[in-house]
Amino acid sequence: MKILVATDKPFAKVAVDGIRKEVEAAGYELVLLEKYGEKAKLLEAVKNVDAIIIRSDVIDAEVLDAAKSLKIVVRAGAGYDNVDLASATAHNVCVMNTPGQNSNAVAELAFGLMVMAVRNMYNGTSGTELKGKKLGIHAYGNVGRNVARIAKGFGMDIYAYDAFCPKEAIEADGVKAVASAEELYGTCNVVSLHIPATAETKNSINYALVNRMPKGGLLVNTARKEVINEEELIKLMEERADLKYVTDIMPVANETFAAKFAGRYFSTPKKMGAQTAEANINAGIAAAKQIVGFFKDGCEKFRVNK
Ligand code: 3PG
Repeated sequence: MKILVATDKPFAKVAVDGIRKEVEAAGYELVLLEKYGEKAKLLEAVKNVDAIIIRSDVIDAEVLDAAKSLKIVVRAGAGYDNVDLASATAHNVCVMNTPGQNSNAVAELAFGLMVMAVRNMYNGTSGTELKGKKLGIHAYGNVGRNVARIAKGFGMDIYAYDAFCPKEAIEADGVKAVASAEELYGTCNVVSLHIPATAETKNSINYALVNRMPKGGLLVNTARKEVINEEELIKLMEERADLKYVTDIMPVANETFAAKFAGRYFSTPKKMGAQTAEANINAGIAAAKQIVGFFKDGCEKFRVNK
């Protein structure tokens, strides 16, 4: 049995060692494809493997067509918008994610970005503090919960909106549940995005929504670039010089944002949220274990395609 780790953005070495240990203990072989750059290399590497562990690597119909022996793909992470689920199902390939395994790392980075923004990108001028400010958590999943936990330490006043999570579950954490995204943005000084990229959420963070934010509003994106309506956010930030946008997912219009909004816009050069040794170990080893469980026991926990 061959297990391919295909990561254009590699895991920490310690995580790869841990994955290898799991794979070899099961009697399987590990194949490593890192920083492959071009898709052709991925297409070549998937040819005779039974399982693939990926991160944000794109698994589309072409890759699935090339992977003749493939039975399972595990996205070592939360969001699986990079996998063509319908095509995987059609190819009889099981797709899983590893929910929760990298969420603390992403939540910590959200605060890294937040502090940077409220301290004026560390330019030496007086900024503001997070203590006492209203924080809006947009989607209360694994990352959102970690953001709430950390926000308590900062002394923030915490609100959350989640279309699927029951109000009681949010309020049990001492977080105020609001009834709509409109209310969240209308209430909070800082909004931290934790929604997945789906047909419903793509482009949903738009002019009308962000314009509800009070003066000095800060939007923090450690989720996905696709959820932002970039054109409308640019228009809004042109009109409102008080708004700031910091993101861990470089927008398509990065150059426009950077040129127009110097001092109130920042993007990491490469998505860094889950880029910690701990998150790599947690998500990578969970992925390896899920593959072993799938082959040895038929376990399909965390399957995301039907
Ligand atoms: C996720 O969905 O798990 C995060 O966005 C992390 O993605 P990455 O593995 O590409 O860093």
